[in-house]
Amino acid sequence: MEAYKPGLEDVIAAETQISYLDVEHEEIIVRGYSLLELIRSACYADVVGLLIDERLPDAQRRHELEQEMIRASVPEPVYKILAMLSPAMHAMDRLRTALSALAGFDPEASTADPEREQAKAPRLIGQIAQIVANLAHVAAGRAPVTFRSDWSFAENFLRAIVTRAVTPQEVRAFEQALIAYSEHELPNSTFAARVVASTLSDLYGSLTAAVASLKGPLHGGANEAVIAMLLEAKTPDGLERLIRERLARKERIMGFGHRVYMRRMDPRAQLLKEVLADLVKAKGTGELDLVALCERGEQLMRTEKNLYPNLDYYAAPVYYALGIPTELYTPLFFAARSAGLLAHIIEQHRENRLYRPRARYLGPRGLHYEIRSHT
Ligand code: SDX
Repeated sequence: MEAYKPGLEDVIAAETQISYLDVEHEEIIVRGYSLLELIRSACYADVVGLLIDERLPDAQRRHELEQEMIRASVPEPVYKILAMLSPAMHAMDRLRTALSALAGFDPEASTADPEREQAKAPRLIGQIAQIVANLAHVAAGRAPVTFRSDWSFAENFLRAIVTRAVTPQEVRAFEQALIAYSEHELPNSTFAARVVASTLSDLYGSLTAAVASLKGPLHGGANEAVIAMLLEAKTPDGLERLIRERLARKERIMGFGHRVYMRRMDPRAQLLKEVLADLVKAKGTGELDLVALCERGEQLMRTEKNLYPNLDYYAAPVYYALGIPTELYTPLFFAARSAGLLAHIIEQHRENRLYRPRARYLGPRGLHYEIRSHT
């Protein structure tokens, strides 16, 4: 048997055509393209086409994908089920419940046929986005917002969340965050999805496994924790004090560190840092100087712990500057990553081998059961 690596650190657990984190060259390759270039120049429908169709879409296919995601309707009973849940329930648990309920309205829910899954993926991405956009509205007793075909997918998604007019710069910043989160090789949530898919279980089961994984504060839940930390700190000096206190208590500082990037900056974070600066310059964020705040935290963690920001550290303040409710930060991570997750599940179904590792047994042996009277 192979040596045991805690947390499967540096273990190759899949072969994939989808993406690769080229840490040495500070690149993230997605089906041959640079994710950083896609964040800078592409639209989310481009990335959906690249991930699901396995090639960048031409203008017509991009329009088709955009429309399919926008027109995807969420069955009314799914919102009714959401409305019955306690608003105190964590948004990721409400999302997980809605996703399970959605399967009940898909006659092909249990298929593991890659072609059928590829065909329905754009609709599912659109449905997930609309469910996420409406999580807070339904919990507050408001009617769900539907998407309109005369707005782009990103504009629909952002406007449905913030329910106000938005500027082209805000829409672009939001779309860049969607692309930044869209795909990232084999994080815990993607691995969870592939493990479930490897039993030939279906898209919905594999995706709900990913939702459960992403809720964790060591993973997707970090972005919510980042903004809570920044808002508690209020000022750069306040953040320095708060981080020092937490480090003294041996606590983890959310938004820093990464299993793969380790002691390097997540290249996506660097890009979202620029997006944040442009956004704040254009619209300001009142008394909160987000850029100075984040800069101080970044400097402190670099000098104190030689640790660098991951995507969540700069995505969270971008979401805050856009006026997105904090409870939606991690659901948004899932909605954006749904394109990458579906690509991995379909790839797993296309060339499958059941995941079934071994465990090294450390318990006792040689114990015998003695028949004893049960009086
Ligand atoms: C995402 O995998 C992906 O690609 C995920 C993701 C994606 O796009 O899908 O990039 C998204 O999940 C980003 C990560 C979001 N999580 C956080 O920001 C939570 C805070 N970060 C950490 O908990 C941590 O950095 C992890 C979980 C991300 C990685 O942890 P590892 O690889 O298991 O590293 P480790 O726990 O072994 O830490 C190594 C050392 C330890 O110090 P020592 O005990 O050796 O002295 O670094 C320290 C840790 O204490 N450390 C931290 C720290 N992260 C690591 N110390 C303080 N704060 C931190 N954030």
